[in-house]
Amino acid sequence: LEFPRAGRTIPLPLRAPHKKEKTLEAALETPALIVDLDAVQRNIARMKAHAAEAGIKLRPHGKTHKSPIFGRMQIAAGAVGLCCQKVGEAQILVEGGIGDILVTNEIVAPRALARLADLARFAKVRTVADNAQGIDWIADAAHAAGVEIGVLVDCDLGHGRTGVAEPAAAVALGRQIATTPGLRFDGLQAYHGTVQHVHGFAARTAAVAAANATLARFIVAFEAAGLPPAIVSGAGTGSFALQAKAGYTEWQCGTYIFMDKEYRDIGDEAGGAYQPFEQALWVLATVNSTHGGERVVVDAGLKSLSLDGGLPEAVDLPGWTFAFGGDEHGKLLRDAAHAAPAPAPALGSQLRLLPGHGDTTINLHDAYEIFEGGKHVATWPVAARGKIK
Ligand SMILES: Cc1ncc(COP(=O)(O)O)c(C=O)c1O
Repeated sequence: LEFPRAGRTIPLPLRAPHKKEKTLEAALETPALIVDLDAVQRNIARMKAHAAEAGIKLRPHGKTHKSPIFGRMQIAAGAVGLCCQKVGEAQILVEGGIGDILVTNEIVAPRALARLADLARFAKVRTVADNAQGIDWIADAAHAAGVEIGVLVDCDLGHGRTGVAEPAAAVALGRQIATTPGLRFDGLQAYHGTVQHVHGFAARTAAVAAANATLARFIVAFEAAGLPPAIVSGAGTGSFALQAKAGYTEWQCGTYIFMDKEYRDIGDEAGGAYQPFEQALWVLATVNSTHGGERVVVDAGLKSLSLDGGLPEAVDLPGWTFAFGGDEHGKLLRDAAHAAPAPAPALGSQLRLLPGHGDTTINLHDAYEIFEGGKHVATWPVAARGKIK
């Protein structure tokens, strides 16, 4: 199996069908989540360089890969810790050797808070809050476990999801955290999820600038109240470069490690694809039904490819479009208008599908099939797959 490199095209089909090959890649059962580890390493190094240039720490989001192995690679490359969205993810990451975790989501359920507090006995644990009652509940859990938990005030920069929208109200929560035994006021979370997906560089720049201006008001309010935030955590793959001088002390980007079609399509400064990082993850599928030169069917459908980020793309098959085929089927249709469509792949051929949304696709798979130097070298678990609690 070959991966695309600059200036290289991929031979088709990726492997000939019906050969009794002894190579590992020929033995891969599909659908399989395949990863180009060389590209992952380059993506990690590139993000590290961006952060170093901006003088900002990295706290990559582990909800993307859900894997202590990838998390440890990021830490080895200088990340200060990891983010995750759920306590279940945090447990897997800490068990896998990650010593510094920020849960970037409001945790309010008593049992989940008890698990979070328990984790603080083994690792540096922080979470976020946007509600006075919620802060009391975190404190209760910390008290019961005999631990201290770092809390960031979650600030809404206009995203309209979690977070406090008014700086004065955020400061009041900061004061509450700072004066509650068992809690430590560590700073602010300032994540705006929608600005980083704005299509078109100019429109995205304007949207991020407005979010940055809002963040500045929060920071000024905390400083004026005598609570200067030690940590200001936020930003993502589509916005980090525009948030280099906005007061952030750490970036939470997640998708950059693998990239996906959704991010590619937000567009770069020159009007092309947004590719500050390389595509490093695909779903490998097998052609299991052929229908002349116009349509083939592959063994990957809704249960191996999420569709919330749009339909996947058959990157090895120019002139062919993926169409929804059901839970376990994907249809590939030849585009009659295409100038030079690839010939129909033969029964048994394997080809790569570029997922619309990486995070939600990864969560559908038990394992990553890891390729290095074009060879299959390992199978790594998606260890926190399904950890939605
Ligand atoms: C709170 C928070 N921080 C960071 C991220 C990372 O964003 P991305 O994967 O787009 O880099 C997300 C993604 O949804 C998020 O919810």
